[in-house]
Amino acid sequence: MSKMELRLDATLEQILELARWAPSGDNTQPWRFEVLDERRLVVHGHDTRDHCVYDLDGHPSQMSIGALLETMAIAASTLQLEMRAMRHTDTPDTRPTFSIEFLPAPDLEPDPLADAILARSVQRRALGRRALTAAEKSALNIALPAGYRVHWLEGSQRGAAARLMFRNAKLRLTMPEAHRVHKSVIEWNARYSEDRMPDQALGADPMTTKLMRWVMQDWRRVHFFNTWLAGTLAPRLQMDLIPGLACAAHFVLVAERRPQRMDDYIAAGRAMQRFWLTATAQGLQLQPEMTPLIFSRYVREGRVFSATPGMQERAAELSRQGAALVGQQDWEAAVFMGRIGAGEPAASRSLRRPLRDLLVPAGSP
Ligand SMILES: Cc1cc2nc3c(=O)[nH]c(=O)nc-3n(C[C@H](O)[C@H](O)[C@H](O)COP(=O)(O)O)c2cc1C
Repeated sequence: MSKMELRLDATLEQILELARWAPSGDNTQPWRFEVLDERRLVVHGHDTRDHCVYDLDGHPSQMSIGALLETMAIAASTLQLEMRAMRHTDTPDTRPTFSIEFLPAPDLEPDPLADAILARSVQRRALGRRALTAAEKSALNIALPAGYRVHWLEGSQRGAAARLMFRNAKLRLTMPEAHRVHKSVIEWNARYSEDRMPDQALGADPMTTKLMRWVMQDWRRVHFFNTWLAGTLAPRLQMDLIPGLACAAHFVLVAERRPQRMDDYIAAGRAMQRFWLTATAQGLQLQPEMTPLIFSRYVREGRVFSATPGMQERAAELSRQGAALVGQQDWEAAVFMGRIGAGEPAASRSLRRPLRDLLVPAGSP
């Protein structure tokens, strides 16, 4: 069956049209849909670990796929359908695959988070500094499924988290392995991007963004700027330190059981999406801050992530600082981290690939 010939059931189409707005690291959308019939499909997931230094063991991709499944279930609930998902345990870890079925459930309450699916978007610019209200925090806590809790970083810890992000950014911006990733995931001169992140959504001012565009074309330029012209300073101030201070709080989602297997990361992704949608429903904006957690795990497991001397040591220092901020146990069991606060929705954002591009013919490997 070719993409052109595929007739999609209207209900299934409605669900998938919403589900594809789930967030994914760098907007990679690591999922394709094989429709079997009106109520059944296979989700073919993949990861980017072979070329993306941030996608350690594919875990961020697996979290994204978890977010997709949660969004699907929420969308289905508004149509009185209950979603059943079963992971194929015989596919390799690099290709998380799920059989999905929607069953009639006339008594199912529509999930109110459905209204937030399209409005949810990452906001990387300054947010309001007013503290979250007790009601907002309570809604966010309640949003989490059993097995997860929020570790808040507020007051003086907000500044400490901002400084952690500032130092973390230096690592990211001076490492050729990360430069390769940044180069391929940013769409320049763009307010919107279907398959990447538009540069205007990154949070830097127009002059700095323009300079970044020129410098980032070539690693030698990046290296020269970093070495002689404090090239990381303006981007790090604008994209890490200032937003890190301009927010209500930073937060860490902590799993009761330290995540280990793919299913743990899929479940964490589902929890992340409920938390993020709840923030949106409360009129709050959010930005994930995942890379300190990722570098820390490289360090903890003694795995080398860069050929550049000194990077591993810097990451080890960051990892110590992260653990000092939230406590060793919570740092190691953290599945998601970010900043949050009241504010305007982002004026520039990632869009998505059209649904027809995400459909694959029946019998796809
Ligand atoms: C698992 C995961 C990790 C992410 N990590 C970061 C991050 O470290 N920094 C950041 O600014 N955005 C991060 N994002 C946000 C994505 O870049 C964003 O969701 C994606 O580009 C789609 O944009 P949208 O959320 O506005 O729809 C992450 C998203 C996911 C799902």
